[in-house]
Amino acid sequence: MPRDHASADKTLLIATKALTRAFDRRTVVDHVNLRVHRGEIFALIGSNGAGKSTLIKMLTTLLSPTSGDASIAGADLRREATKVRQRIGYVPQVPSADGALTARENLKLSARLYLIPPAERDQRIEDALARTRLTDHADRPAQTLSGGMMRSLEIACSTLHHPALLIMDEPTTGLDPVARDMVWRHIRELRQSYGTSILLTTHFMDEAQALADRIGIMRAGKLERVGTPDDLRHELGAHATLDDVFVHVAGADAAPGRQASHARMRSGARSHG
Ligand SMILES: Nc1ncnc2c1ncn2[C@@H]1O[C@H](COP(=O)(O)OP(=O)(O)O)[C@@H](O)[C@H]1O
Ligand SMILES: [Mg+2]
Repeated sequence: MPRDHASADKTLLIATKALTRAFDRRTVVDHVNLRVHRGEIFALIGSNGAGKSTLIKMLTTLLSPTSGDASIAGADLRREATKVRQRIGYVPQVPSADGALTARENLKLSARLYLIPPAERDQRIEDALARTRLTDHADRPAQTLSGGMMRSLEIACSTLHHPALLIMDEPTTGLDPVARDMVWRHIRELRQSYGTSILLTTHFMDEAQALADRIGIMRAGKLERVGTPDDLRHELGAHATLDDVFVHVAGADAAPGRQASHARMRSGARSHG
């Protein structure tokens, strides 16, 4: 007997039920009900401090919820944490590749970490290098790679075990447009080749618009709004941009200029008064 409807639904890669996390009695993720479907690219946006990273850390089992439940790739977050870990890939906000090792050496480490059978390792690694166009750079120290290549390498490391779900926290923050483009292509190819579902956070509205099937807007720990980029825009007005939507939904708890990345994100917003 399935425990609940969410865990029985094979088309849902993420189904959270009132997922909540508090630090010292301060609730920073507040009864979030998030649903991400199989094969979907879902972007979480929200001001700094809205709770995006905390939510992601719970979904990846790195942080335990204060209350609530979740089913991740068909496994129960609380009771089947090991299964969850086997079925997801995670690219954290901070760089995760070892710059002193080569790209190939980084992938070899991941192959061991993810328990890929030794007979399959070399092929998996060569495939990953080819897919990320890193074959010709495989034996250079990772720290000499461009920003886009480095990020692609980190994504390749985190998906070597072909997880059903890839979770990434701000995968393109700090990258130039060329590097961002490389990462976008990589993300789309992962979905196309393996049907990987993707949850990512971003500060860039153009990225959410270009990449995501659906967007969730977090504000002060709550998932305030979910929809396709077009639906979210049209809800606000015929000529609304995603920046307008962001300011409208998430803007109230964001003091102007409080954070550089937030200021950057708002800079393209048009007035909708
Ligand atoms: N380990 C922690 N201890 C105490 N407070 C934390 C901890 N991690 C995050 N917070 C707080 O939780 C809130 C949400 O943070 P975070 O999830 O990082 O937001 P976001 O990723 O949206 O910027 C912030 O106010 C932050 O200071
Ligand atoms: Mg964060």
